[in-house]
Amino acid sequence: MRIDVVTIFPEYLEPLNVSLVGKARARGRLDVRVHDLRGWAHDRHHTVDDTPYGGGPGMVMKPEPWGEALDAVLSDPPREGEGAAEPVVIVPTPSGRPFTQELAVELAAAPWLVFTPARYEGIDGRVMEEYGARLDLRELSIGDYVLAGGEAPVLVMVEAIARLLPGVLGNADSHRDDSFAPGAMAGLLEGPVYTKPPEWRGREVPEVLISGHHGRIARWRRDEALRRTALNRPDLLARCAPEALDREDRAT
Ligand code: ADE
Repeated sequence: MRIDVVTIFPEYLEPLNVSLVGKARARGRLDVRVHDLRGWAHDRHHTVDDTPYGGGPGMVMKPEPWGEALDAVLSDPPREGEGAAEPVVIVPTPSGRPFTQELAVELAAAPWLVFTPARYEGIDGRVMEEYGARLDLRELSIGDYVLAGGEAPVLVMVEAIARLLPGVLGNADSHRDDSFAPGAMAGLLEGPVYTKPPEWRGREVPEVLISGHHGRIARWRRDEALRRTALNRPDLLARCAPEALDREDRAT
């Protein structure tokens, strides 16, 4: 997978050299290219923002540097089989659709993602109109809060996507039971997990987990997932299709 990021803070993306994403790059699973937007601002001060039409607080990112930057980045597609890969352009914004695990799974299948993290009040709307008219462009939010810019959301989305790529996580089953993963536990949060030692500060690991009884362990895990979901995310439980819950679930 190829990932391009256009930003005025290339150093903000340095964590993409570390840990899981860094290893995926080192192994050749991910080709990440970070570009400095100011390289496409041609005045002496490399200006990328201006005051908003219609008034109001803050500054808006100018369309010209973004247009030049995206034209340049998009003119160099990765090869995919016979032809060039199609990009998915991702604009992080608190006004976007929610970025979910389902979207992470969908985007992990794309060959090429181009992220455009903005600062200030956002990017001139014509940029999204222009590229949205001819490309798959998604405005995505990572949550109902406002950050100072889209760089942290890019780190979040890239990590969520990269860990789903084949050969990136050591154990391919690691994301099978993830909270929000499709499958038997779909719609439920993961319950607590334990490791050695069996007793720590007088607290014991739940007996069932050392019983070796796979059926009882699976039932216990499901009950804990239901309990945690009811406590932390009752909205998710309310959305669970009745047929997704078995008879014992309903008793929990
Ligand atoms: N930029 C600022 N806040 C954001 C958010 N919550 N999601 C995506 N991009 C953002």
